Amino acid sequence: MLERHDQTRLNGIGGRWTLSSGLGRRSVEVSDAGDRGISDVDLDRANAARMYDFFLGGAQNFAVDRERAEQVIAENPYIVEALRELRDFLRRVVKYCVDAGVDQFLDLGSGIPTVGNVHEIARRYNPTARVTYVDNEAVAVAHSREMLRGVQGVTITAADLRDTATVLSAPGVNGP
Ligand SMILES: C[S@@+](CC[C@H](N)C(=O)[O-])C[C@H]1O[C@@H](n2cnc3c(N)ncnc32)[C@H](O)[C@@H]1O
Repeated sequence: MLERHDQTRLNGIGGRWTLSSGLGRRSVEVSDAGDRGISDVDLDRANAARMYDFFLGGAQNFAVDRERAEQVIAENPYIVEALRELRDFLRRVVKYCVDAGVDQFLDLGSGIPTVGNVHEIARRYNPTARVTYVDNEAVAVAHSREMLRGVQGVTITAADLRDTATVLSAPGVNGP
């Protein structure tokens, strides 16, 4: 669940938010500055990252996301199973890459953190693996920032993945 403390600031994502999740209830400050290409939090419009969280069984979604997701499920009842399989595939791919010697990951469109993130999987097999997450969705970025606070070698950058200059200069891409 996500609550914004300052209800007067409806444009941009900057401000103080409360995130309630399986990780607990935390207050986080989200900055507008430096968040290039990030989308606004629009509570009236369904959002792909939050719908994805709903499909995976997460709690970081709003009524508008659930309503739209239910419409999608009605059209395609297999979507939930398919997306959960996709998530399992991601886990297998990361393990395969680590086993092959890959120790740095750039996750474009990393989404809202759910159990079994890329860095958790990678570091299970190589504790020194580095991961750079990139997403342009405000909620996904806010959750990632909070989750990664104090975690060395893992970063989250708010950017549009098509903005290659920003992506390739993101913290962690060219060095620790
Ligand atoms: C379906 S989720 C995937 C989450 C995770 N990568 C996984 O495989 O489980 C897609 C993510 O891509 C992000 N996304 C979509 N378009 C993007 C863009 N142009 N730049 C950055 N992120 C984007 C969305 O915000 C969303 O969080």
